[in-house]
Amino acid sequence: MAFTYATLKPFGVEVTGAVGHQLVNQEAAEECRAALDEHGVVVYRELNISDDELVALSRLLGDVVTAKTGEHRYPEIATITLDPAKTNAALATYRQGNFLWHIDGATDMLPQKATLLTAREVDDADGDTEFANTYLAYESLPDEERAKISDLRVAHSFAAAQLRANPDASEQERAAWDQVPSTVHPLVWTRRNGRKSLLLGATAGEIVGLAADEGRALLDHLLEWATQPRFALRHHWRRGDLVIWDNTGMLHRALPFDPTSRRLMHRTTLVGEETVA
Ligand code: OGA
Ligand code: MN
Repeated sequence: MAFTYATLKPFGVEVTGAVGHQLVNQEAAEECRAALDEHGVVVYRELNISDDELVALSRLLGDVVTAKTGEHRYPEIATITLDPAKTNAALATYRQGNFLWHIDGATDMLPQKATLLTAREVDDADGDTEFANTYLAYESLPDEERAKISDLRVAHSFAAAQLRANPDASEQERAAWDQVPSTVHPLVWTRRNGRKSLLLGATAGEIVGLAADEGRALLDHLLEWATQPRFALRHHWRRGDLVIWDNTGMLHRALPFDPTSRRLMHRTTLVGEETVA
């Protein structure tokens, strides 16, 4: 495939010269998976992939998560916007959580393998997306700190994230968040290939067995560590860009944009392939 690859700093790769339909075949999908494994974030500049092609590519890359929200004619596609006219009000509220560093599906037993996000409408001034590489962050921790956290376990909940994103929520909204089951994961995720990363983010509410404030302080410290500029990549969107990331090892967040912004993303996610261990 005659695409041009340019590595980004401190991680990630940018692909130019590709058009959406060229990604919908086995060979291109394998090349994409390899780039994802190697670089963590793959940016296809102005790919202009259609919804049909996005779903087809996602299916070539793995098992695709489906949702029952009915936001899009494809149950695989989520419409990421704050504009209630383009989605529904509850989803627009939940998506305030995207402004906080997080890992998609961290409250599930099997966090999602990868996320594909393509820009349908952009806001020229605002709404970049940032990624923080939690493999690099783990590898760079001082030895004694790695030893200290090696056996810790963390409770991840939707409520923990929403409480931070929507602190003024009503009792009723809070009760709804509490309906979403929470999950306990190891803080350090060891992959089958031996690589380790930190499993952190807005959903991380408490550390099992530690006093609430002690656990909170350690989680805050580690999140601050992991999201330092030396581990982070910032993407400024152009319309038609497709960004794919290894969701298991990248914290990510949207940078602020106005709730009335035209910004609209179409997203698919791949089902997790490794339990957290
Ligand atoms: C997401 C997400 C960030 C963004 O869709 O999962 O976190 O910049 N999006 O829209
Ligand atoms: Mn996300």
